[in-house]
Amino acid sequence: MGVLKEKGPIEYSKGLEGVIAALSSISAIDGKNGKLIYRGIPIEMLAKYSTYEETAYLLLYGELPTKEALEKFSAQMRELRVIPKKVEECIVELPPNPHPMDILKVALAHSALYDPDRQKCCREGVMRKVIRIIAQLPTMIAYYHRARTGQEVIPPDPELSHAANFLYMLHGKKPDEEEARIFDIALILHAEHGLNASTFAAMVTASTLSDINSALLSAIGALKGPLHGGANERVLKMLDEIGSPDKAEEYVLNALKEKRRIMGFGHRVYKTYDPRAKILKEYAEYLSDKYNDRKYIEIGERIENIMIRELGKKGIFPNVDFYSGIVYQFLGIPRDLFTPVFAMARSVGWAAHVCEYTANNRIFRPRAYYIGPDYVEYVQLEKRR
Ligand code: ACO
Repeated sequence: MGVLKEKGPIEYSKGLEGVIAALSSISAIDGKNGKLIYRGIPIEMLAKYSTYEETAYLLLYGELPTKEALEKFSAQMRELRVIPKKVEECIVELPPNPHPMDILKVALAHSALYDPDRQKCCREGVMRKVIRIIAQLPTMIAYYHRARTGQEVIPPDPELSHAANFLYMLHGKKPDEEEARIFDIALILHAEHGLNASTFAAMVTASTLSDINSALLSAIGALKGPLHGGANERVLKMLDEIGSPDKAEEYVLNALKEKRRIMGFGHRVYKTYDPRAKILKEYAEYLSDKYNDRKYIEIGERIENIMIRELGKKGIFPNVDFYSGIVYQFLGIPRDLFTPVFAMARSVGWAAHVCEYTANNRIFRPRAYYIGPDYVEYVQLEKRR
């Protein structure tokens, strides 16, 4: 059965490890040295000097914007933040218990029906759809949170930046500049990361020439899982379960003995400290001192030391999800919104890859290597036991 068990040059790589599935000029990861660049620019520079809007422009258009281009792009983002009334009505009516990642899927799918560019496939039309989605995801998340907690929704404020506006819509009061900036940096650090599972999911969908909304829905579904974007909220759950730094050693060693994963550690590409985690850890430290509440950071640092001692030689280090939750906690972001916040930041990376790939598209269609039997005799239903 040569057709079924084709061998030849076909190689198998579990989880597609090491497989090159696309050419890209959007970002690059040096997993050995812990470096990440967006369009050639180190993330440390972007975190220090840029805003999320500027980073989004860079990722979508391939270069840093001029002052005028940034003003125009930011104005477009601000204008597009307002969601259609029908989508708002749908969001506020949704039940309060589902995970907000599921709500985000419903809200994004619903909003596509009212997108004035829905039928457009020209570059400008697709770009407007993309910017609309990036601008509106924060509104959808904040509106849902306000509604599920019995509060009035707060419409977007066109005077505020992308980051500050989200915190404002969530809390109903304008954030202080420093906290808005820390959140902005967290969004920059989550904006893009090559062909991770959610980006790849978006690309697979887009490669069938489906629409951008469907591609991003696939990405949201993939990001939700605990091995990907869903790890951040589980980190905080773990810190609570541990309760105090002196209990960390026993918890981690037991987990490793039982072959359980410690959330927020390990990465397919980084075999050293994730550079995003390094920056987020600094802000987690800073906010812990600012609020004089060092419980989480101290447990986190203990876990980090134990994990590096036990698994550092295997290349297991903190990833982006380990310290982001501590930062978000201090910014007053509810735990189950950590992954939706990741989605709103990463939407730009998803869209950039979809646009880049489909500009020179070929449908993704890998093969499975058949390991089943060559021939099984068909037994009629009444004779089966
Ligand atoms: N805790 C304990 N052991 C781990 C961890 C961890 N967090 N991560 C990997 N390992 C161990 C595995 O048990 C395995 O050991 P073995 O070789 O003795 O069997 C080895 O390291 C390799 O693990 P794989 O699962 O093969 O690594 P893979 O590249 O497939 O997975 C992943 C990467 C999913 C991120 C993994 O490290 C993990 O599950 N981490 C915890 C979840 C997490 O933090 N996810 C967020 C990742 S970042 C992001 O997506 C935004």
